[in-house]
Amino acid sequence: MILSDNNKNNNIKNENLKPQETDFDKTFDNKFENSIRPKTFNDYIGQSALKETLKISIEASKKRGVSLDHLLFYGPPGLGKTTLAGVIANELGTGIRITSAPALERPRDIIGILMSMKAGEVLFIDEIHRLNKIAEEILYPAMEDFSLDITTGKSQTVKTLRVAVPKFTLIGATTKAGALSGPLRDRFGIIHRLEFYNIDELKAVIKRTAKILEVDIEERGAYAIAKRSRGTPRIANRLVKRVSDFAIVKYNGKITEDIANEALDNLCIDSWGLDNTDRAMMKLIIEKYDGGPVGVETLAAALGEDVKTIEDVYEPYLLQSGLIQRTPRGRKVSPEGYRCLGIDVPAYNGQKSLF
Ligand code: ADE
Repeated sequence: MILSDNNKNNNIKNENLKPQETDFDKTFDNKFENSIRPKTFNDYIGQSALKETLKISIEASKKRGVSLDHLLFYGPPGLGKTTLAGVIANELGTGIRITSAPALERPRDIIGILMSMKAGEVLFIDEIHRLNKIAEEILYPAMEDFSLDITTGKSQTVKTLRVAVPKFTLIGATTKAGALSGPLRDRFGIIHRLEFYNIDELKAVIKRTAKILEVDIEERGAYAIAKRSRGTPRIANRLVKRVSDFAIVKYNGKITEDIANEALDNLCIDSWGLDNTDRAMMKLIIEKYDGGPVGVETLAAALGEDVKTIEDVYEPYLLQSGLIQRTPRGRKVSPEGYRCLGIDVPAYNGQKSLF
């Protein structure tokens, strides 16, 4: 079990860091992210409808002296699901255990965690759609009745023992709500989709982060970064860090509009917030497949990315901003997508309906 420095005060335990997260960049990003994570609803920007629902549920659970209903958050990565789980635990005045479904491979992984929870604590399971069937079946009675059915012995002598576990709150997070099994989904009391952030919310996140980093930022500097953050606070925060490094090394440290734009141009992030992979994907559809439709597997193979990364990381923002469209026969680039790349929108050619 790893207890990260930044989380000691917030009672957050990281049960597992996946192997790919141990390289320097990810460790650095995680540390940076943890150091700027808001701890209270007051500090947490955006998702206002969800925050209001949660405040009432938390208040009610405190008044009634019962554990908070299990919660499922879904939506694209980087919108603050883990952050929100930390805020909820903090507002409940309890601890949080953080793990992810791929780390719960063996029955004893999930049983061990459940048995060691304290009453009222929050268990956060990231990528919950990847939970295996056995772990899922262990969770059902734990979520419903706070009990575990432990099986001992073999064939003729098999015995099932019911043991109690402390009353906990499960917070599941997923980028793919549709991939969750029905019985698991039904056991959550609150299911909520996290939305992309608008420019004003992103600006507020950016100014808050700049303040924590003790970096001066002009209103238009914050706006320039917000515009290129793909509606995602995690990206906004990373860009603030990169732009502030640039401002410190090349200028006097203050983030103005011009400095932000120069730094972001250097990072090859265009005014739509698209990076090289987004552009490569759209260009591929246009140049090799006449603008589409083309299947996601074909795209993934051509780009050297896996299907899941395209579906969960790249596509949601391109779809939401209307730059690409998803059709039953695959993905196609919209007229807006052509314009965003500075490519002429092709005229209808009489053979194939483009849009
Ligand atoms: N950092 C990441 N997400 C945030 C949010 N919603 N509010 C404030 N800071 C954040």
